[in-house]
Amino acid sequence: MLELQDLSVAIAGIPILRGVTFSVGEGETVAYVGRNGAGKTTTLRAIMGAVASTGTIRLGGRAIETVPAHERPGLGIGWAPEDRRLFSAFTVKENILLPARVARLDPAERDRRLERVYAILPELKEMAGRPAGSVSGGQGKMVALGRALMIGTRLVLLDEPFQGLAPVLAQRYGEALRALQAADPSLSLLITESNPALLKSFADRTIGIERGEIETAPVLADPGR
Ligand SMILES: Nc1ncnc2c1ncn2[C@@H]1O[C@H](COP(=O)(O)OP(=O)(O)O)[C@@H](O)[C@H]1O
Ligand SMILES: [Mg+2]
Repeated sequence: MLELQDLSVAIAGIPILRGVTFSVGEGETVAYVGRNGAGKTTTLRAIMGAVASTGTIRLGGRAIETVPAHERPGLGIGWAPEDRRLFSAFTVKENILLPARVARLDPAERDRRLERVYAILPELKEMAGRPAGSVSGGQGKMVALGRALMIGTRLVLLDEPFQGLAPVLAQRYGEALRALQAADPSLSLLITESNPALLKSFADRTIGIERGEIETAPVLADPGR
């Protein structure tokens, strides 16, 4: 579904990503793991066109790196950024619906998707009328997930969703992700995390990044020795 080939990003002349190459298959959940500053967020920002990059980004076989950033969500890519970026004066529901408005979905399709979001995250239906500024940090992560699911029909990018979540909410968030996988088996998920243990229970595969480069699997000892 997603193929990155030789993706590189430099900021102010400093290389941040160097030749990042990997893919996420249809229906696959990939954990994208690396220390703080490794380049996880920059990779997601490059996929969304929020930072200039070189190399190839393919979605469902189509090269999308020339698609303007504001049109990429409309290709079916949802993104829950690390810092959530909710509009605090808008209600929870308005925040969730925002990408549907930007993509100009027709009302029937919008309502169908909203029901899909509520089926996976019923707590969002209860919070729907509250100003987003009044929900807790952990609940805000749920709202950001709901918003990403509203537009992410093919690929969803989640940036450190478990960061700072209290254990009960982390467990709830994990449950929601498993419900999502069950409800939508063809959806591809790319989830970043600095602690790989958190994603073990639902990721199909782990990809490591270190200082802007994809880690290759550890080289096995020479069997001849
Ligand atoms: N806008 C920016 N300006 C300068 N440096 C940046 C910027 N964005 C990211 N970086 C640097 O790029 C590196 C990778 O950052 P990031 O992608 O946020 O890593 P991660 O998400 O893995 O913690 C870090 O060294 C960070 O300081
Ligand atoms: Mg990050």
